Amino acid sequence: MPGICVIGLQWGDEGKGKISVYLSRGAKAAVRFNGGANAGHAVRLNGRELKFHIIPIGSVFADSAVIGPGTLIDLDVLIDELRKLEELRGRVDLMISERAHVVLPIHKSLDSMWEESRGARRVGTTGRGIGPAASDRYARFGVRVVDLLERETLREKLRTALAVHHLGDGERSEELYDWLVSRVPVIDSYVRDVGPYVAGVIDQGGAVVYEGAQGTMLDIDHGTYPYVTSSHTIASFVPLGVGVSPRYVSRVVGVVKAYTTRVGGGPLPTEIEGELGAIIRERGHEYGTTTGRPRRIGWLDLVGLRYAAELNGVDELALTMVDVLSGLNEVKVCVKYEVDGKTTSRYPSTVERLSRVRPVYQVLRGWKGLEGERVREVIEEGYGGLPVEARRYVEFIEEDLGVKIRLISVGPGHNEVVVK
Ligand code: IMP
Repeated sequence: MPGICVIGLQWGDEGKGKISVYLSRGAKAAVRFNGGANAGHAVRLNGRELKFHIIPIGSVFADSAVIGPGTLIDLDVLIDELRKLEELRGRVDLMISERAHVVLPIHKSLDSMWEESRGARRVGTTGRGIGPAASDRYARFGVRVVDLLERETLREKLRTALAVHHLGDGERSEELYDWLVSRVPVIDSYVRDVGPYVAGVIDQGGAVVYEGAQGTMLDIDHGTYPYVTSSHTIASFVPLGVGVSPRYVSRVVGVVKAYTTRVGGGPLPTEIEGELGAIIRERGHEYGTTTGRPRRIGWLDLVGLRYAAELNGVDELALTMVDVLSGLNEVKVCVKYEVDGKTTSRYPSTVERLSRVRPVYQVLRGWKGLEGERVREVIEEGYGGLPVEARRYVEFIEEDLGVKIRLISVGPGHNEVVVK
């Protein structure tokens, strides 16, 4: 499987980090192709909690770590994670695309200012400067990694960026220049054109794991706009965000949490209010990896998942957090929506319409016993060791989506996975 992409099919936080780590054993490269430090990829490796925001977390196993041109780079986060990875693995074979854009401190200030101006319609961003940095990229005021190596170009670009946003004069621009330039010696030896490297790895038979950030429903065009992130989060963006042709993507693994979570604003049709939502939140430690905000909790939504699976051309699924639902008497799955007096299986294109839908649920029996020592036994026993009700849940999803679930995650550890 030379080029595998790991894509979230919900609103992010599906457990892509853990699945990417699982799939990266033996891979030649782990690659980030979208988003920035708004992402929080986490895994428990040998009893230690690891979190990465911009370096692909698969690089704890893969031979090299690649940050593609489709990303937005926060230099301080990058430097911090580079040290963390060096501590884990010794010298790191890191490659940072010269074409990737840099998130500047002004982007973070603008992020909070823009949120303030949205009032009640605030997106609930992570505050990492993603929207403003992406908007400068498309308005062609962006600073790219390669600009950090060309000092005069950098000075000029910073002056323009500050002027465009009415954020200061020559003095401010010199401060920003010094801030950036002081970070260059730590990263400059890693900067290169990454596309040919990734293509070369695959041409020589090596495996590459493309690690998606956020989830399908947060895609700028195909998600629940405007409550989305400012980049593409779906499989079609992989070639663009890496700089390779589409033939370097051979397989799409869609990652689905056994329930739904969302952090930030926007509709969540299957939201579970009250005590049960709070119980699942605590059990699943559903607090943002990047911001610590409590995540909203909902039942699984097959209308949304059918849309996401189709949009991404998903070849197989990884179902995560199955252990978190253990102990519930019943679990609900949304199989269609009712909207404006009619039932529909179509995912609406506007949040106005999505906020009017009423989920129609199928109720399935819950499962018990996926806790403590039993989890280890289940992993050893394989799929047949899962409680029968949990298997029924897995098969119900497979039948509905017409896609096989190959990996079932039953704990936060990197190898707490049942292969089906
Ligand atoms: P931004 O990407 O910081 O601009 O935030 C836009 C929306 O995407 C907000 O609702 C965030 O909570 C959400 N978001 C961004 N990154 C992630 C992520 O990695 N996981 C979950 N939600 C995210």
